[in-house]
Amino acid sequence: MKVVCVGSGYVGSVTAAALAMAGHATTVIDVDQHKVDCINAGRSPVFEPGLDSLIQHQVGTSLKASVSAHDVHEADVVFICVGTPSLADGTADLRFVKAAARSIGEHLNTERFTVIVNKSTVPVGTTELVAMIIEEASGLKAEEQFAVLSNPEFLREGFALEDVFFPDRIVIGTLNLKARTTMRELYKPFVEQLYDEDVARILPLEACKNRQKAVYFETDAKSAELIKYASNAFLAVKISYINEVARLSEALGSNVADIARGMGLDSRIGEKFLQVSSGWSGSCFPKDTGELLATSQKYGKELAIVKAAIESNQQMYQFCVGKIQHKLKSLNGKTIGILGLTFKPDTDDARQTQAIPIIHKLLQFGAKIRVHDPKGMTMFRTLHGELPITFCDQAEETVDRANALVLLTHWKDYRQLDWKRIYDAMKTPYILDTRNFLPAIELREMGFDYEGIGSL
Ligand code: UDX
Repeated sequence: MKVVCVGSGYVGSVTAAALAMAGHATTVIDVDQHKVDCINAGRSPVFEPGLDSLIQHQVGTSLKASVSAHDVHEADVVFICVGTPSLADGTADLRFVKAAARSIGEHLNTERFTVIVNKSTVPVGTTELVAMIIEEASGLKAEEQFAVLSNPEFLREGFALEDVFFPDRIVIGTLNLKARTTMRELYKPFVEQLYDEDVARILPLEACKNRQKAVYFETDAKSAELIKYASNAFLAVKISYINEVARLSEALGSNVADIARGMGLDSRIGEKFLQVSSGWSGSCFPKDTGELLATSQKYGKELAIVKAAIESNQQMYQFCVGKIQHKLKSLNGKTIGILGLTFKPDTDDARQTQAIPIIHKLLQFGAKIRVHDPKGMTMFRTLHGELPITFCDQAEETVDRANALVLLTHWKDYRQLDWKRIYDAMKTPYILDTRNFLPAIELREMGFDYEGIGSL
């Protein structure tokens, strides 16, 4: 089939590359010439493990990029994969979605039935809005000459290729039968996993083994849109819950890692998303919980649980800072090394990261901050260049005469640091490991005052 993806950001690049790999002739459209050049040169415009290889593999055969929306004219399916940042009131800014819809409408082919797919995370009702904009721009009739549907993405940064090729579910939101037939055809290779060997060359095979086949689920557009928000908010609630249990566990002297394990063994609960942290963050959970809460309030049906999870998450940042304060007494003039600026490992994404509220609070109390991240320092500097903090090229440099070392993101490399050098460089060898990730027993044996979260 012929496919166009509007937007070459995180979701657009991954979706387009995967559709191309599945055998569809795919064009990525973006207004940013640099990103377009990047893809055409066989490189990924965003950092995501495996994506460079995938794009390199497909470019020149079934994948290309362009700044012109011309290919919409020939397309069977057009994906909208543009950003939906948060406005000040928590609701989603639909500027880019509307612009994409207009541009698609202007290039739509009057002779064929085109399916337009909303993959961006958008408020409930946006599918209808996009259809109206396209009707206006094209003069065509929605549902008869084209159809717009919702097909939310469930890609985790850092595992996006695994998630796109081996998804748990593919959700298609439309009641239009012609559009449903087109989408079944488009996703056939994904449901039947027809690309196993090709993908295995790019992804480590372990990730693909034992994966259940995707459940292909059809519903109406509004339900599909809400599935996305309700899922992400549920996961955020789950993390907030275990983080609260961790706080209680710490007070009681029990061990939250064992509690999470014991809970997760109940298949109704499940073991995933019970990993303690300094709070959930990133480009999705804060935005999606905010939007869902705002929508629920607008309709007079406030989701009190989501509201509580957001508040609880804020308290988690303060809880971590409180632990450092408790240990160091005054933070004024104290040096604190921070390991990890991205919201999770294996991404360069430092948007809405937990590092921000935590660093802000530490600075307010007069601490001097030295930071390191293997991939996220460039974005962090671009977004928060105004912060009076020191960026270190080596993780070990963050602890020069430091009073504390705080691990915020559990990058694998942080387990293998030169701990002897770190111990010798620190003024007081206190470590706060907000992910319970570092080798606690070894570190304590070396003389570190090591603290995790949720246990003694
Ligand atoms: C999320 C959803 O998982 C994905 O399905 C959706 O489509 C996009 O949003 P992502 O934002 O990439 O993906 O990150 P995710 O792995 O879900 O983590 C979100 C935040 O929760 C991170 O800050 C992470 O560190 C934190 N987290 C996750 C925990 O603190 N504990 C956990 O057990 C899991």
